[in-house]
Amino acid sequence: MTTNHSNPTSTITDPNTLRGKRAVVTGGTIGMGLAIVRALTDRGAEVLYTGRNEQRLAEAQASLNTPLARPVRSDATDMNDLAALAEHASDTLGGIDYLFVNQGVAEFQTLEAVTEESWDRIFDVNAKGSFFTVQHLAPLIAEGGSIVFTTVSNDEIFPGLSAYSGAKEAVAAFAKVLAAELLPRGIRVNAVAPGFILTPTMGVAELTEAQRAEFIEQGNASTPMGRGGTVEEIAAAALFLAVDATFVTGVELPVDGGFGKGLGH
Ligand SMILES: NC(=O)c1ccc[n+]([C@@H]2O[C@H](COP(=O)([O-])OP(=O)(O)OC[C@H]3O[C@@H](n4cnc5c(N)ncnc54)[C@H](OP(=O)(O)O)[C@@H]3O)[C@@H](O)[C@H]2O)c1
Repeated sequence: MTTNHSNPTSTITDPNTLRGKRAVVTGGTIGMGLAIVRALTDRGAEVLYTGRNEQRLAEAQASLNTPLARPVRSDATDMNDLAALAEHASDTLGGIDYLFVNQGVAEFQTLEAVTEESWDRIFDVNAKGSFFTVQHLAPLIAEGGSIVFTTVSNDEIFPGLSAYSGAKEAVAAFAKVLAAELLPRGIRVNAVAPGFILTPTMGVAELTEAQRAEFIEQGNASTPMGRGGTVEEIAAAALFLAVDATFVTGVELPVDGGFGKGLGH
């Protein structure tokens, strides 16, 4: 028997499933974030999505090509930007049903190479930015709403990513603790934990094309399913947690082709 681990793409999307729902996606201009924005607007939801780079915001909006999606320049590490994002969401959406806290960055650095500056950069974007995004936007989330963080498949370790993995473990902890804190308001909090995913950056800062190709090869070799995941596969899992998983809170869902469990090794 042969096993097919290719990605079957669904062709049926009901454009009204999420009509009337409101979402915010941080780090929504490329890769998984952009796929989450597209999955939401394809189903009729209104979405504010963020990033820091104006050109990426403009390119994302051109590719989404729908008035349901609205780009907002906002840096998740800047408290003034987060306050402005909350005000904007309140003014334009009137509230939030789904919040996807997706921004992040990795840098490959061995123990000796990590500096105070690179540590701060990594922890600021991944951990501090995720926490304070929720602190600013949670007051707007409606009862029955939900939050989905993007962490990383961390059960199998990857050398050179200690600061990044630590920062993402902090985010995984936020998902559990905030699930408990927001339970009384009827808000679920979960995380999607990607393995190797084929995004423009592969989630790593300043990869050259050659390094990206090498990283993809390493990913294919160490992923039991033998390939990198697609951004649509992450978006499907993130939407499942946000929308359909109504009896699920405080979990981190690996979407990693078996990488985290070391299947087949
Ligand atoms: N790709 C992978 O294989 C992989 C694996 C595991 C986990 N992840 C995680 O999955 C998430 C998405 O990764 P990706 O590869 O799709 O894209 P990415 O290259 O990590 O970029 C993510 C998005 O975040 C934005 N961003 C970065 N810093 C920000 C900040 N301070 N404030 C607001 N937005 C910011 C980026 O736009 P600007 O730079 O213009 O701001 C972009 O829109 C990240 O959290 C990443 O750590 C990725």
